[in-house]
Amino acid sequence: MSSQPEDVAEADSAVEAEARETAGGLPLRVEGVRKTFGGITAVDGATFEVEEGTLTGLIGPNGAGKSTTFNCITGVHEPDGGAVYFEGEDITGARPHAIAQQGLVRTFQIAREFEEMTVLENMMLAPDHQVGESITRSVVPGLRGNVVEQERQLREDVWEMLEFFEIDHLAEEYAGNLSGGQRKLLEFARALMLDPEMMLLDEPFAGVNPSLEKKLLDRIHELREEQGLTFLLVEHDMDLIMENCEHIIVMHQGRVLDEGAPERIKNNEEVIEAYLGGEV
Ligand SMILES: Nc1ncnc2c1ncn2[C@@H]1O[C@H](COP(=O)(O)OP(=O)(O)OP(=O)(O)O)[C@@H](O)[C@H]1O
Ligand SMILES: [Mg+2]
Repeated sequence: MSSQPEDVAEADSAVEAEARETAGGLPLRVEGVRKTFGGITAVDGATFEVEEGTLTGLIGPNGAGKSTTFNCITGVHEPDGGAVYFEGEDITGARPHAIAQQGLVRTFQIAREFEEMTVLENMMLAPDHQVGESITRSVVPGLRGNVVEQERQLREDVWEMLEFFEIDHLAEEYAGNLSGGQRKLLEFARALMLDPEMMLLDEPFAGVNPSLEKKLLDRIHELREEQGLTFLLVEHDMDLIMENCEHIIVMHQGRVLDEGAPERIKNNEEVIEAYLGGEV
């Protein structure tokens, strides 16, 4: 009887491993996703895959459909057509919370913290299963010690993360009083607290100073190399994309215009044209 939980855990990980295998090492697969808003087609049959452990760039001129694609992947919008698979599982139309719990976590182009809560409170809320559980468990005798230890650990993790993101001095500040860049950092830090397997980052460095940007990029590379985390990054700074991403997906008018290594993308006339066209 005592071996039951282990058996179950083993069976679970076998199922997970099989799902990964079916996905062929592909954490994310987007197939023909479409999203319209009234008469506007924001995403028009976007199809691409992201390989495990990569830092993949998602680029394209303003209005190309990058953020809407993120919204369709993470359940913020339900796509009008197409499908999204995470680690081999169809997650199309699933709730954002459920998708995050599966390990697919994102940040928003316009950061979304609870403005009337402090930075620290926002961070403590992030791994909600821990805080939520601890509140319920605190009334169950015998689990109290566990709860105290869990919360102590959570606080320690939160402070470590705040220090790394260089916003620890803002811990007691209301999120609503932060600058744009500081909000981006809080959101990024909060997303990392969820212990993700894959992160979708929508312009995470906007308003962030260059030395911190460099430090965060180093951390991203470290998380990929050491823990196999996968990143999909929307970013307008081409030098940053070309220097850091091994694979780049270019969107234009809701579709994938081209994808490949930086060298290929840099020299693609159609890509250059799409950018110039967007600016005129
Ligand atoms: N909620 C919405 N309601 C109506 N139209 C929308 C909505 N969200 C996006 N759009 C429209 O869809 C198109 C794609 O927008 P999206 O924000 O996905 O582009 P983007 O590639 O992220 O652009 P940017 O680089 O400027 O962030 C745009 O024409 C935009 O105005
Ligand atoms: Mg956008």
